[in-house]
Amino acid sequence: MKISFNKRNTLVGVALGLAFSTSAAIAADGWGYKDVADALHLIMDSDRTVYTKLIVNRLQNEEKVIKASEHWKDDKALVLPAQMFRYGSELVAEKGAAFNYSLLSLWPVNKQNAPKTAVEKEGLASVAKTGTPFYKEETLGGKKYFTAIYPDKAVVKACIACHNAHKDSPRTDFKLGDVMGSVVLRLPMK
Ligand code: HEC
Repeated sequence: MKISFNKRNTLVGVALGLAFSTSAAIAADGWGYKDVADALHLIMDSDRTVYTKLIVNRLQNEEKVIKASEHWKDDKALVLPAQMFRYGSELVAEKGAAFNYSLLSLWPVNKQNAPKTAVEKEGLASVAKTGTPFYKEETLGGKKYFTAIYPDKAVVKACIACHNAHKDSPRTDFKLGDVMGSVVLRLPMK
């Protein structure tokens, strides 16, 4: 498998760095909530794909060197892609970020990952149907958020092999390219 980084992604990275250097830069560059959400998601999604392709799928499914396991510590195994994602988001929260993100699904292996708020339910259903992002403003605990919901797709065989065979998975017929769930990203609104 081959991962190529094109010039455009590099430019998005540079633009993001500049936009975050001061909040004034965001305004000056005309960056809106959707632009910031899309840029953050692009990084999350790319990191997630790289980990799943280059680490999990290569070492577990192709070379059969080491497995990925929920109980990675006891099993001396690789951390699951979903755990990698959650540990990152927990660290972001610990560092006091105003935004937050998580990985949810209408067919969750872990019931904690089912949609809960009305916007999550509406967004996940829409994304599963259309395969395209969903955006909506949402008020939670008296705070207003820009909520962006993106498709999380089966990019490699490891995704579907593991979910379809998992004893707690409510769905066993995922195919390559299917929407398996969604990344839900919330930005606080001024
Ligand atoms: C080796 C097994 C394994 C692989 C590979 C794997 N997953 Fe998962 N995935 C899980 C488990 C187990 C969970 C639940 C983890 C938790 O939250 O405790 C999960 C969680 C998820 C969730 C959150 C909803 C849920 O089911 O709890 C989504 C969405 C998801 N995975 C999609 C994917 C995609 C897309 C890929 C490939 C890029 C992938 N998974 C690769 C096992 C796997």
